[in-house]
Amino acid sequence: MKVIVTKNYEDMSKKAADIVAEEIKKNKNIVLGLPTGGTPKGMYKELINKYNKNEVDFSYVKTFNLDEYVGLDGNNPNSYRYFMNETFFDHVNIPKENTHIPDGMVKDPDGYGKMYDEMIKQTGGIDLQILGIGTNGHIAFNEPDEALGIGTSVVELTKSTIESNSRFFDSIDDVPKKAITMGIGSIMKAKKIILLASGESKKEIMNKLLNTTSVTTYLPASLLHLHNDVTVIMDEDAN
Ligand code: PGA
Repeated sequence: MKVIVTKNYEDMSKKAADIVAEEIKKNKNIVLGLPTGGTPKGMYKELINKYNKNEVDFSYVKTFNLDEYVGLDGNNPNSYRYFMNETFFDHVNIPKENTHIPDGMVKDPDGYGKMYDEMIKQTGGIDLQILGIGTNGHIAFNEPDEALGIGTSVVELTKSTIESNSRFFDSIDDVPKKAITMGIGSIMKAKKIILLASGESKKEIMNKLLNTTSVTTYLPASLLHLHNDVTVIMDEDAN
């Protein structure tokens, strides 16, 4: 695991956007795995800036998002489809049909999860996966547990995740209790992974992640120690 510590959130976001833009320049047909949440917002802003300066072209880029809440459709402002359109896709030249986000309204989540992983495979697999990390060590919505899903599937959210994410909702009761998420296997198949972490609230989990000498499903991000191309970009507050 390579670790880059930046002065602040802005520099973390710029560094991440620089790497994404460089990878797109190397491969215009790149397949990106994308996260939602507060952490990557600055990176998306920087990528939009680069697009506006003609420094990056998203015409042929394909994207697969990590997760979506079960029960929220794309018109719901709390859905991750809405977040991605508003935060990023609507501001760059990526064709909407190239953007994929798990469908939170799907009737057959098991069949759908398999299809989502198959779609990723059909594109040639994820070249660059960007991740955030939960204060409980989750990546995507793979919550600490005795076992973790390999492929994309429906999961129950933990109390700590519901509490963390309630800041985006009117009330904690409005936070969905389930999500459809890419599995640990889907994530580990990515050729290159960047994990972003910012702020004091991530300090404790980053300390655990970077100093652990074993992998455990109770710290899902620890599985990333088994991948051979992971770069952590974190700001000083998270260090
Ligand atoms: P955050 O979420 O970026 O809003 O902190 C990260 C995550 O839960 O994976």
